[in-house]
Amino acid sequence: MDNVSFLDNKIFGIISEVAAEHGVRAFVIGGFVRDCFLGRPCKDIDVVVEGSGIEIAQKVAERVKSKVSVFKNFGTAMFRYCGLEIEFVGARKESYRANSRKPIVENGTLEDDQKRRDFTINALAFSLQKEDFGSLVDPFNGVKDLQAGLIRTPLDPDTTYSDDPLRMIRAIRFATQLSFTIVPESLESIRGNKQRLEILSRERISDELHKIMLSPKPSIGFRLLDETELLPLILPQLSRLKGVETQEGKGHKDNFSHTLQVLDNISCHTDNLWLRWAALLHDIGKPQTKKYEPGLGWTFHSHDFIGGKMVPAIFKQLKMPLNEKMKYVQKMVQLHLRPIALVQDEVTDSAVRRLLFDAGDDINDLMTLCEADITSKNDKIVRKHKDNFALVRQKLIEVEEKDRVRNFQNPISGELIMEKYKIAPCKEIGIIKEFVKNAILDGEIENDYEQAYALMEQKAAELGL
Ligand code: CTP
Repeated sequence: MDNVSFLDNKIFGIISEVAAEHGVRAFVIGGFVRDCFLGRPCKDIDVVVEGSGIEIAQKVAERVKSKVSVFKNFGTAMFRYCGLEIEFVGARKESYRANSRKPIVENGTLEDDQKRRDFTINALAFSLQKEDFGSLVDPFNGVKDLQAGLIRTPLDPDTTYSDDPLRMIRAIRFATQLSFTIVPESLESIRGNKQRLEILSRERISDELHKIMLSPKPSIGFRLLDETELLPLILPQLSRLKGVETQEGKGHKDNFSHTLQVLDNISCHTDNLWLRWAALLHDIGKPQTKKYEPGLGWTFHSHDFIGGKMVPAIFKQLKMPLNEKMKYVQKMVQLHLRPIALVQDEVTDSAVRRLLFDAGDDINDLMTLCEADITSKNDKIVRKHKDNFALVRQKLIEVEEKDRVRNFQNPISGELIMEKYKIAPCKEIGIIKEFVKNAILDGEIENDYEQAYALMEQKAAELGL
């Protein structure tokens, strides 16, 4: 495909005309050009103008009858056109202050603008001038780096990274998304500039983490974060999973590598960002609970429970919302051993019912997590665990069909008890409700109103109501 066919949308011709009428040069630049070469779809188009980006955006938007949004502070303007988001900016020469991501901006040429971009592969531009429409402007050999799969900064990496430290994580994010390699001098520079992360907002860091998480093989990103020493500054709890201790000749597995393997495994089965987060955090409680018990070996008792308790603080530290997504991740971490326990014990209906009750609608996600958690190198063991989980899944279906406990609602409500016995809120109400719930989950009575009502009456009599 030649470059002009990348630009066959008529909007590019219109921008070209408007820019020429105003005597300025315009170029398509950045991610759109990169993605054209990679054959990736891209709905965001960045246009750089040697002049006022806002003015050209306004004129083009007028011509295509679209509503333009102007961001005066940033010197940018954007409008939507046929499902595309087109953003205009004036070419800039920028220099940064040591303590802020906000640059001091001066007008510049295309070349000035390309120099101040993060990576050679993101500094590519297509000309929109009539005389050389579609020609590639690639002063830093970005296409060569694209072909070789390299992440490299246009300028000395220390300049590029210290100008905008977010780029250190962006480098790792692009390496993960594209399976590219960060060139050694850039990796070294990231390590050297790691303290500059301090000036970044946690939200921007988490945005990048989410993109790493949603990549086909997220472990690439976490290994790079570790290698560049950024990980302890972002997610120290994950760094603490690293390492193997040995006592009496017995070692435990490296929980960092195991976790990354689980994350990659689950990423083959789900695009659910939060389930991937649950995979990343499923063993986060292990360092705190690690113990060597002579004769028994290494144990991590209650790491599921402790890990679940750690989740809100991790979300808070990354400024991720403390909402139902957090609760979901917490629940997955807390329950991740339960299906395994079902495999080990003789599976009783009661244990299956309790798991269905605790996991609710997230039971399938929990099973996906447990299956991803099998990381043995021994094929026989993997097969055995998978077969066992298949049995658990089958059992879950059977019990759910029979007992409908997945979205269990106690047939006996607090209101019902208060009304029947003419009492105000008191601890006996909780005791009765819990008694009825346990009887249903343990299979002593069916999930049925009449039977539950009779049991309520029996327990109330015992309590002297
Ligand atoms: N850019 C930069 N430094 C940053 C962020 C962005 O130099 N910290 C430049 C790059 O040239 C990038 C362009 O701005 O290509 C657009 O940025 P953005 O939309 O964030 O990224 P994309 O490259 O389009 O990729 P993605 O949409 O995947 O984030």
